[in-house]
Amino acid sequence: MTILIQNIGELVVVPRGPIGGRSMHTVNTITKAAIVVQDGRITWFGQACDLQYPDECHIIDARGGCVIPGLIDCHTHSVFAGTREGEFVKRLEGKSYAQIAEEGGGIRVSVEAMRSASCETLIELTLPRLRRMLQGGVTTVEIKSGYGLTVDDELKMLQAVSQLKALKPIELVGTYLAAHTTPREFVDQPEAYLDLILDDAVLSRVREEKLAEFCDVFCERTAFSIEQSRRVLETAKRYGLRPKLHADQITQIGASVLAGEVGAISADHLETIHDEGIAAMARAGSVAVLLPACSFFLGVDQAPARRMLEADLPVAIATDFNPGSSMIESLPLTLGIACTQMKMTPTEVLVAATANAAAAIDRQDSVGAIEVGMQADLLILDVPNHHRWMYELGRPSVRLVLKKGKIVVGEA
Ligand code: NIG
Ligand code: FE
Repeated sequence: MTILIQNIGELVVVPRGPIGGRSMHTVNTITKAAIVVQDGRITWFGQACDLQYPDECHIIDARGGCVIPGLIDCHTHSVFAGTREGEFVKRLEGKSYAQIAEEGGGIRVSVEAMRSASCETLIELTLPRLRRMLQGGVTTVEIKSGYGLTVDDELKMLQAVSQLKALKPIELVGTYLAAHTTPREFVDQPEAYLDLILDDAVLSRVREEKLAEFCDVFCERTAFSIEQSRRVLETAKRYGLRPKLHADQITQIGASVLAGEVGAISADHLETIHDEGIAAMARAGSVAVLLPACSFFLGVDQAPARRMLEADLPVAIATDFNPGSSMIESLPLTLGIACTQMKMTPTEVLVAATANAAAAIDRQDSVGAIEVGMQADLLILDVPNHHRWMYELGRPSVRLVLKKGKIVVGEA
C-alpha cells in the first residue's frame, strides 16, 4: 500500500536522535512538500515539484498544513488508579510536595488505590487516557510501574501495559520502577524491600516476559539514596534492563552524577542539576528528560533547560503524567509550557518530543525522525508551520495521525 501526502505547507525534517542541545534549534524545513509512504515506512520526501508520482497510491491532501513526526511521550506514569485532588488543594494552601510525602500522602496514596485495582480495571482506566494522547498526536508512550510496591502489584502494572500494547495503535514501552518509594510495610528497612524487588526470580521474569526494557529509580532524599539507587540500577542492568533515574528533582544529592556513572540512557526531572551533573551526563551520553508540566503543576521552579542545551546535552521533554505531581496528559500543552517557562524555541521543543524522546527510550532507529526508512508515524497539523503550532498554545491542532503508515486519527 502506497500513500502520498501532498500539499504540505511545511515539512519539518527532524533528523534521527540523539541531537545535542546546540543543534536543536536548527532543523531543515521544506515548504510545498510531499511524502511517500510504503508499507508503513517513509520512502521519499522532498519538494512537491521533484515528486515522481507513484503508479497507484492513496493520496492524502495536507491542505497546506504542517507535517511533523508523531510525538513521543518518553516519561509517564499513565497506569494509575484513584486521584489526589486533595493534595492539589493542600499545595495551593501552602504545603510542599515533599511535606505531603513526609506526612504519608503522595505516592503512598496512589499505592493503596493500585493494590486494590485488578489488571482489567487498570486497562479500563488507562485506555481512554491513551486514546486522548493519540488524538493529541502522541504515537509512542513510555509507561512506568511504581504504584504497586509489592512484587505482584508491580508486575500487575507491567502486565497491564503489555495487554494495552496488544490493543494498539499507540506504541507502548514499559519501565520497571518498583524503586519508586519504600512501601509502608518496609519504612525502616528499605534494603529488605530492595532485596524483594531485585530478586533473581522477579527480574528474570521481567526479562523473559518482556515486561520492561528499562529500570528506573526515584533517587531523592525522601526515596532512595545514591548507594541504594546504584544497587538497583546495577542489578537490573545484569538482566538487560537499561538504567533511567528520577534525578535531582527536589534536592541535590548527586543523582545526575550517578546517572553518568551507571551509563543511564536518560536522567529525568533535573530541576536542581548542577555543573558536575551536566558534565557526568555529557560524558555518558545520557539524554536529559525535562518535565516542565510537573514543575508547572506543582508551581515550582523549572529545570535550567538553557544551561543543559548550551552544554550540548540531548534534551527531551515529556509530560510525567501522573496523579500526584503532573495531572497533565497533554504533551502539546507541555511543549507550550517548555517554550514560555523554559525559554525553549518551538523547533527545540519539537526535537525534544520526537528525535530526542525516541533516544531516551532507545527507539531512535525507528521513530521520531523524518528520514527514508523510518516508520511513518506522522502528524498533519491544521497550522501552516510549527512556530504557529506552539504559538497557539493549548489549542488542539492535530488534523490527522498516521501510525506505521495507517490513519489512526482523522480522515483523509
Ligand atoms: O515523576 N517524583 C517521583 N515520581 C513522580 C510522582 C509520583 C507521584 O507523586 O505520584 C514524578 O513526579
Ligand atoms: Fe516521573
